[in-house]
Amino acid sequence: MDKRFYLETFGCQMNVVDSERIVDLLHQIGYRQIDKPDAADLILLNTCSVRDKAERKVRGHLGRFKPIKDKRPELIIGVGGCVAQQEGEAFFESVPYLDLIFGTHNIHKLPELVLDLEKQRVKRHAVEFLDRETRLQLFPKRVEGESVARYVTVMQGCDNFCSYCVVPHVRGREVSRPSSDIVLEVTELVTAGVREVTLIGQNVNSYGTKEAGEISFADLLRQIHQVEGLERIRFTTSHPKDLSNELIDCFGELPKLCKSLQLPVQSGSDRILHLMNRGYSQQQYLQKVERLKSVCPDIRLTTDLIVGFPGETENDFLQTLAVVEQVKFADAYTFLYSPRPGTAATELEDETPAELKQEWFDRLLEVQGRISLDCWKADIGQIVPILVEGESRRGDGQLFGRSTWNRIVNFAGPKSLIGRIVPIRITGSFKNSQVGELVEAPTGDLPQASCQ
Ligand code: SAH
Ligand code: SF4
Ligand code: F3S
Repeated sequence: MDKRFYLETFGCQMNVVDSERIVDLLHQIGYRQIDKPDAADLILLNTCSVRDKAERKVRGHLGRFKPIKDKRPELIIGVGGCVAQQEGEAFFESVPYLDLIFGTHNIHKLPELVLDLEKQRVKRHAVEFLDRETRLQLFPKRVEGESVARYVTVMQGCDNFCSYCVVPHVRGREVSRPSSDIVLEVTELVTAGVREVTLIGQNVNSYGTKEAGEISFADLLRQIHQVEGLERIRFTTSHPKDLSNELIDCFGELPKLCKSLQLPVQSGSDRILHLMNRGYSQQQYLQKVERLKSVCPDIRLTTDLIVGFPGETENDFLQTLAVVEQVKFADAYTFLYSPRPGTAATELEDETPAELKQEWFDRLLEVQGRISLDCWKADIGQIVPILVEGESRRGDGQLFGRSTWNRIVNFAGPKSLIGRIVPIRITGSFKNSQVGELVEAPTGDLPQASCQ
């Protein structure tokens, strides 16, 4: 029998990787993925609860499936990921037409749960956190599939408990995968045609620190750097307090390490950073930025910023603005503070009017918008090495790839360039991408040097 599933993925890279695993597991029990929900036998949402808006989006999307379920009661609707973990079994009460809830540690149970549901329509859920040993055995591993750039999970969970953040509550404690497994996976990926890996985890900088005898994250980068045929390495996300000098120096040492780093600052005010439980001051953050720029002068930094944290004053906000002006981030993801269930910041008094928070937010967006535009416009006319990843998502027959700074560049060229690093003259910069033209069609082998 031909069984069809439809999957929607929200949130960060963790969910993207988890969804790859979901697809693989469902294939194993005879399901085929389709790209519209109407004809599906199984609809799954892999969800994010980092901000209230993300959670509301999930609930909104679920609402769209209700009419399909009304027409076809045999349809199975399931929710996984961080909202599922946060809500647990209670999710059945707020969304009565749900059949299945699976938490962030329970993806491996999906086949069993779905097969049970096929036999007997009794609501199922699995949301318990697993112990360390079991999690280590279940670490997401490479799934077959052709691509030029891949994510590789190096650690999971977070022990930082920033006071606003739900992630440690929905993803559990930190565990790091053995370095030998990671290097092996990267080697296999490269043999299969992958040219770029992004090492992912909630806080990759603390990689290995909780495992006896494990190497540091900087040493892991050095080992991966030796994999022959690999062109580029990226990693995300970094916590500033755990960004060691040894790791910073890798940006000057390892040519395959791309010259871009996401380093969330969240706030420029020491008072707010303390209330956020971030573990660094404005000055300590700026010192790390200085060192990064001195070992790698053309590195581009991006960041996350939260506006309107409980108790934030105009003076605190001005400190954030000052950091933004000083660092000149290539991009910043700016969020209005959103209270999350079970987090410490919900206990803090928050008397700042919503309109004032919005005004700060708009000001920050405007300042950062100008800085970003200046940064990306400076590339116009420059020749930039681009690793070609595939056909443009715009569907216009063009190709797309990325610069070392992680920006998508669209250009016209033959498909045979996919997987190669080619020189592109940048001709235009938009908000999230650039366009360019091929300078010369390369011949021969892949160039060895990468992020230069
Ligand atoms: N692990 C990553 C990011 C986690 S969530 C890290 O530590 O960098 C991504 C971003 O969402 C955070 O950096 C923060 O800026 C934002 N965020 C998290 N919780 C939030 C909340 N409650 N309200 C507003 N923004 C939040
Ligand atoms: Fe959340 Fe902080 Fe952990 Fe990032 S480091 S996931 S912001 S608790
Ligand atoms: Fe969202 Fe969960 Fe990632 S809350 S940001 S999908 S870890």
